[in-house]
Amino acid sequence: MTYRIGYLVGSLSRDSINRILSKALVRLAPPSLELTEISIRDLPLFDRDDEQSPAPAVTAFKSDVEESEGLLFVSPEYNRSIPGPLKNAIDWGSRPWGHNSFARTPTGIIGASTGAIGTAVMQSSMRSVLSFLNAPQLNAPEAYITFKPDVFGPDGEVADAGTEGFLRHYMEEYAAFVERVLSVTAPGHVGDRD
Ligand code: FNR
Repeated sequence: MTYRIGYLVGSLSRDSINRILSKALVRLAPPSLELTEISIRDLPLFDRDDEQSPAPAVTAFKSDVEESEGLLFVSPEYNRSIPGPLKNAIDWGSRPWGHNSFARTPTGIIGASTGAIGTAVMQSSMRSVLSFLNAPQLNAPEAYITFKPDVFGPDGEVADAGTEGFLRHYMEEYAAFVERVLSVTAPGHVGDRD
């Protein structure tokens, strides 16, 4: 079995360390995962007035999320929380009421920071949001990555064997989690996405 996994990078920065981390995760993922980025860059700011007739970028985003069998969030922590662009994307995906694109989709949350706690507070906030949205989450291993430029190459090469082994293990555990969740839910059943 292979699983279609959409990943969202929570940073819009050209030099994003989380984009580099996402490249490392794609490299190290087991062959059962087909990882494709779901871009959040072109989404307008969330406006409840546009929920019923959203911009084409929103419709495309929601359909990319819904077609994914699993979702992986690779994000920085901004001011001890979820970066605005990522929260904006999640808000669009959650609406309108009754059309929550995230429901029942197995998720993983991982992030890199230049600081010592490696996005732990952002991840805690994400867990609350994803719980409210009824998205199952990989609980363990947790992955709080302190980014070191000498460890990660620009295309996601990982120079340190310990870090590489940990990230490979994380992706293997995520793949096993996706398989477990999908074996007890009906994947892609749109009527369940509420
Ligand atoms: C940060 N940074 C940061 N780091 C952290 O560990 N905890 C935090 O709360 C914050 N807050 C924060 C706010 C804002 C607005 C910025 C721009 C940055 C530092 C952050 O970890 C660093 O800039 C990373 O490089 C951001 O990830 P990307 O954008 O490179 O993927």
